[in-house]
Amino acid sequence: MDEEKNRSTILLGVGGGVAAFKAVQLTSSLNQAGFAIHVAMSPAAQKFVTPLSFEAVSNRPVLTVVFPSNPDDNPESVYPHLYPATRADIFILAPATADLIGKIAHGLGNEIVSASALSLPSRCQRFFCPAMNVEMWHQPTVQKNVATLESLGWKRIGPDEGHLACGVVGEGRMTEPERIFEIVLHSQTATGRLDKKRILILSGPTIEPIDPVRFISNHSSGKMGKALAQGAVAAGAHVEFITGPVPDENLPCHDDITISHVTTADSMLAAAQKKYAKADVIIFVAAVADYRPSETNDTKTAKPTELFTLTLTKTPDIAAILNSSKRKNQISIGFALETDGEARAKARKKLVAKNLDAIILNGTDSFGANTGEFTWINGSCDETETHWGKLEKVKCAQNVIQLVSKLLEETE
Ligand code: C5P
Repeated sequence: MDEEKNRSTILLGVGGGVAAFKAVQLTSSLNQAGFAIHVAMSPAAQKFVTPLSFEAVSNRPVLTVVFPSNPDDNPESVYPHLYPATRADIFILAPATADLIGKIAHGLGNEIVSASALSLPSRCQRFFCPAMNVEMWHQPTVQKNVATLESLGWKRIGPDEGHLACGVVGEGRMTEPERIFEIVLHSQTATGRLDKKRILILSGPTIEPIDPVRFISNHSSGKMGKALAQGAVAAGAHVEFITGPVPDENLPCHDDITISHVTTADSMLAAAQKKYAKADVIIFVAAVADYRPSETNDTKTAKPTELFTLTLTKTPDIAAILNSSKRKNQISIGFALETDGEARAKARKKLVAKNLDAIILNGTDSFGANTGEFTWINGSCDETETHWGKLEKVKCAQNVIQLVSKLLEETE
């Protein structure tokens, strides 16, 4: 975490909403994770939570005014709207009230939070976490201002649906601090950038029905695909996510992730064919069943006799079919799971046969787990291998994204 401490300064702008109390927890989590976290509070925010709470969890004085009454000689105390704003790596507006969103969208800065937002350097990543009454949230002027911020590169987190402080149920709750923390953390650890790139990810297993009850499938939890999708959006991409059946908790969730659910290899191919041409990067992490029953019964097959023969037909090789029309500026990455001593040679063969730019080799220990043993095998002319060893799938995803962003740069 020390590395992050050296690297990232976060300025948290707190707006005047009941959700301001959630920003205290966010500050504490970011501080514990090693970020240098500074807090600026609007006058309205100070009506909900005292600066002292934020001071305690950030271990720093809190910015509360643009014009301090007793500044010392230090420019930092004379110009609180410039310091730490001009040095910030990340700015988070949470809760982002309609008022602050509007002011920032229009370049106004009449209190410390909006004035600080005006002073952020261009390299600073900006997040905003709206929180307001559902009618305020759907107000066309508010939506226009939200769209303005998004068009300027601000990343919106939420709002979520649920009980609002004003007593109604609807869209407008600030996203929970744990989730905001996770998104911000991902955005930092993923060093590669994929801004505005379109990433197509094929994930999960496919299931090939024998009858309405039985099927053929492969082990696949969807966790690696989820980590790749979350990592890609954190790096600035839009993700088209095509997935076979996996538990809901293993599905990624973000406004920039569009999910299509499929079941069989044929339906996964059909869904991917619609998205392939527009993708800058395609990641094949699905465990596609190799065979499907040649015939499917519409009703449950009667209990077979002692010996039961099932005739199987090969499923389409989705990666090979799609990548036969791969453009020069498209990057295609595959995953291979092998169990024997010839694993690397087999993975290399697949890399060529499926026209991939790189393939990541992993073993059966990754089934359903949060970790795995991974080796990155480069395609093209250099054919280098990097053994990453045992890693969290989230970390593996970040490595992949970093290398993909490098490969993309090379095609430009
Ligand atoms: O199954 P196999 O070992 O050949 O899979 C290697 C890669 O090819 C994986 O990335 C997998 O998602 C992809 N694949 C595919 N269509 C198949 C089988 C595998 O796209 N029918």
